[in-house]
Amino acid sequence: METTTSFDIAEARELYNIDRWSGDYFGINDAGHVCVYPKRNGETIDLMDVVAEARNRKLAFPLVVRFHDLLRDRVETINKAFSTAISESGYNSPYRGVFPIKVNQLREVVEEIIDAGKPWHFGIEAGSKPELLAALAVHSDPESLVICNGYKDTSFIQNALLGRKLGKTVILVVEKLEELAHILRVSQTMKIEPLIGLRVRLLSKGAGKWATSGGENAKFGLSTADLVEASDMLHAARLAHCLKLVHFHVGSQVPDIGTIKRAVREAARFYAKLSKMGHELGYLDVGGGLGVDYDGSRTTFDSSMNYSLDEYVRDIVYTVKEVCDSESVPHPTLVSESGRAIVAQHSVLIVETFGAIEKASRQETPTATSGGEIPLLSDILEIRNNLTPQNRLENLHDAQEIRERAQSMFDLGLLDLRAKAGIETVYWQIAANIVELFRDAEHIPEEVREIEIAIGDQYLCNFSVFQSLLDHWALGQLFPVMPIHRLNERPDRNATLVDITCDSDGKVAKFIDLQDVKETLPLHRWHPGEPYYIGFFLAGAYQDIMGDLHNLFGRVNEMHIYLDEDEDTGHYVEEVLPGSTIGQVLSLTQWDVNELARQMKAQTDAAIKSDRLKPNEAMRLLDDYEKSLTLYTYLNFDDQHKPSK
Ligand SMILES: Cc1ncc(COP(=O)(O)O)c(C=O)c1O
Repeated sequence: METTTSFDIAEARELYNIDRWSGDYFGINDAGHVCVYPKRNGETIDLMDVVAEARNRKLAFPLVVRFHDLLRDRVETINKAFSTAISESGYNSPYRGVFPIKVNQLREVVEEIIDAGKPWHFGIEAGSKPELLAALAVHSDPESLVICNGYKDTSFIQNALLGRKLGKTVILVVEKLEELAHILRVSQTMKIEPLIGLRVRLLSKGAGKWATSGGENAKFGLSTADLVEASDMLHAARLAHCLKLVHFHVGSQVPDIGTIKRAVREAARFYAKLSKMGHELGYLDVGGGLGVDYDGSRTTFDSSMNYSLDEYVRDIVYTVKEVCDSESVPHPTLVSESGRAIVAQHSVLIVETFGAIEKASRQETPTATSGGEIPLLSDILEIRNNLTPQNRLENLHDAQEIRERAQSMFDLGLLDLRAKAGIETVYWQIAANIVELFRDAEHIPEEVREIEIAIGDQYLCNFSVFQSLLDHWALGQLFPVMPIHRLNERPDRNATLVDITCDSDGKVAKFIDLQDVKETLPLHRWHPGEPYYIGFFLAGAYQDIMGDLHNLFGRVNEMHIYLDEDEDTGHYVEEVLPGSTIGQVLSLTQWDVNELARQMKAQTDAAIKSDRLKPNEAMRLLDDYEKSLTLYTYLNFDDQHKPSK
């Protein structure tokens, strides 16, 4: 009979490092459940209450849960940080941040951010025509900015100028020199003066996974020679006063504050020099890049950052002030385009485990097969029974040799399946014991580390990495992952997570760690029939929108949650957004669902005619097929859950 050893919440917090990556938004409550503190105060939401609510509403997993109060808290925190640094430093102009829609375009998310940012005139950044069209419609505060980045065509420029006609402060950021001439032509035709920004190509270059947005070889931006030419063009067109903003972006998730400082200093100098070339500039836009400490290590590792929000903000404010003061140029209004740092924390992806492949779990010891004694078995059993800490590596090598000999015998037809299985079972038992014997060793040999990974379980999870965690697959980005319940029970398995796509890359096999990257995640034993939920945290930036339809797994179900102290659970569900149905994803790939049903009907009719199906049965099967087109694209294990007590 299996026993679970006691484990306290403090141990769970340390094991999953939650205090370091949560930014005070997540914790573990006395029930051993992950809970959310959307405002980082006493108000809390138990994630398992949210799971229960989803189940009551027959909302299947995977499920994205958005905490709107948390989103608001992020907007407020960033704006307040700038306001504080500005007043403390004697900086003479305000901050007017913008949210880059590309980081999460969901209407509810954008609207919540705009609403929360109202007191600070928080605006929007658009990088494409669709984003601009959405931004223009949702934007209503003439004091907040609409910044247009990205390459532009005539229609993009016309729409931006339409925004100007409506009284909005829409700034067209020039990404390449030819774009300036184009903007001037369109604005002449529309008879409206444009507000222009120039994206400067800085020498300062970031580090990390998204560093190529900056530096001399960046895809966007004007060189120093281009800037001079742009200034001349504007003067020649008598529109020098239309140049309003200097912009740069060194890349997303900048791990090292040194990169930010260098870039801001360089850009501030460009700002000052351009101001002195006869332009009534007013804004310096420091782009995105403010990081999220996904692994909690507070280092310059890709998944981390070695600075705090306050340090980031102070460095920008003080550096710009210092450079502008030294050049005797008025302080510009500061603009930043932080996306990740605003939305990453607000959503949690919850997935359900539906099976576990365990290598080293069989405890029974094989003895004999129908053919008699199993060759080599007594040798390998002797190794297992006499394992000692002193001889652990030697024991390992001996066991490996026996396993190889068994494989050779099998290849020659001298070993049957049961015998091979017996030897392998004992081998994996030895491997697991050896890993344990090295558990607290100061130096763990590489071969033992490899075995530790090899004996790790694979937990089968009902989701698609390609739909829900694309950056993990494409760029190896790490996210904090942990079970959201049973955290008062010691997790005694180590596992990687595999998704349900038919793709061997559809897995999560790298996990956050303070020192390094972990190859497996500590998890609780999976019991058939009992749901086991795993949460992927800090996944609200980019992942929602970049997911693809690999294997036709579509968008996942969503629940939007607000705090509400009048409710027993401390929250209410404001909105449920159903994920894609099978019919919807098929339509996206040119399948006409009516036509599919018609083709199936023709086939069932033929089957009735040839007596392979009875008419009633055929109609029932056809009905099931048609109903399936309306189902969620992910698997459904509800019929396999034990009834809850
Ligand atoms: C021009 C621009 N601004 C802002 C951002 C958002 O960056 P982040 O999410 O790092 O804040 C990006 C994203 O790469 C970008 O390209």
